[in-house]
Amino acid sequence: MNKKTKLLQANKKADVLIAADLLRASELVAVATETVYGLAADAKNPSAVEKIFIAKDRPSNHPLIVHISSFEKINYWVKDISPLAETIAKNFWPGPITLLLKKAEHISNVVTGGLDTIAIRIPKNTVLLELLDILDTGLAAPSANPHKRISPTTAQHVLDGLNGKIAAVLDDGPCEVGVESTILDLTTETPTILRQGPITQAMIEAVLKTHVINAQNHSLKVAGNMKEHYQPHTKALLMTLEEIKKYLLEPKNSDQKFAIMHYSKFKNSANSQPTNHVFQKMPYNKKAYARIMYRKLHELDAMQVDQILIEEPPKKDIWGDILDRLTKATAKN
Ligand code: TXA
Ligand code: MG
Repeated sequence: MNKKTKLLQANKKADVLIAADLLRASELVAVATETVYGLAADAKNPSAVEKIFIAKDRPSNHPLIVHISSFEKINYWVKDISPLAETIAKNFWPGPITLLLKKAEHISNVVTGGLDTIAIRIPKNTVLLELLDILDTGLAAPSANPHKRISPTTAQHVLDGLNGKIAAVLDDGPCEVGVESTILDLTTETPTILRQGPITQAMIEAVLKTHVINAQNHSLKVAGNMKEHYQPHTKALLMTLEEIKKYLLEPKNSDQKFAIMHYSKFKNSANSQPTNHVFQKMPYNKKAYARIMYRKLHELDAMQVDQILIEEPPKKDIWGDILDRLTKATAKN
């Protein structure tokens, strides 16, 4: 497809109905979730789901998350709902955690990348939940960015990456959480976190009352969990504040223009010269940081600097998802 992508408004009922019509007609519509914007297709319609892989340029064996509107509807998609799944649902849904469960026989391999498991979640976004109820289906939706690129947290980010490749984006403002859901595998003997997210290991263990494995490096296990991901076009590096300060003073960097994304107080060296670098001060509060992380990365990437230097996040569990995303965003450099 190469036609203009419609910009629809989530606060206009007529626009929500247009989004529903497009999805019924096997088209792709980007929708806001509380985490990031998702590129949605009717998960019951394999030929619609196939379009997601083309629009994103995503390998077809990378499985997708199916979004549903209520726990009762999960029976259609999975078999053997464990009591653990019910506990997670009761405590965290709607919200930023995805469960990996055994898929029901009739679910298309296009959605699950040929696996016998399915990733499923109830998102916390009123309009998306309404849309799911209007359609009475599940929506398969990966993040609405081109493959490996920075995830979108505004409708404009979606257009920047996918304009002309998808039918519409339903603009519901900036995403509240700003970083992708935690993925928890409940098909293994011990529940295992496959992707860190806003719901942490400690939060999960507290409600499940059992040990949970935090699999940091399971990249071989699942297509779709890649070392390089969430990447700006600009060269980006992850360093401590001290390393950043040293790096800026290296002779080879003297004619380079940097963007520096930091949360610690940044004092320039003693004789602090005015610089033409861009200093992006980030919040030290994790939730506030997460909410704007991708947006700031998009902005700094658009500034035509030579390199983006990112201060390593604090080494605390709660920051695990941020560390994961920033490590992958800077992995090739
Ligand atoms: O917050 C989120 O989770 C966002 C919003 C839109 O819901 N979605 C999202 O989707 O991040 P995506 O496709 O960008 O990332 C989903 C990850 C992929 O790394 C994929 O490999 C993994 O989930 N995944 C999906 N189904 C799986 C399965 N059956 N087994 C293992 N991993 C799976
Ligand atoms: Mg993604």
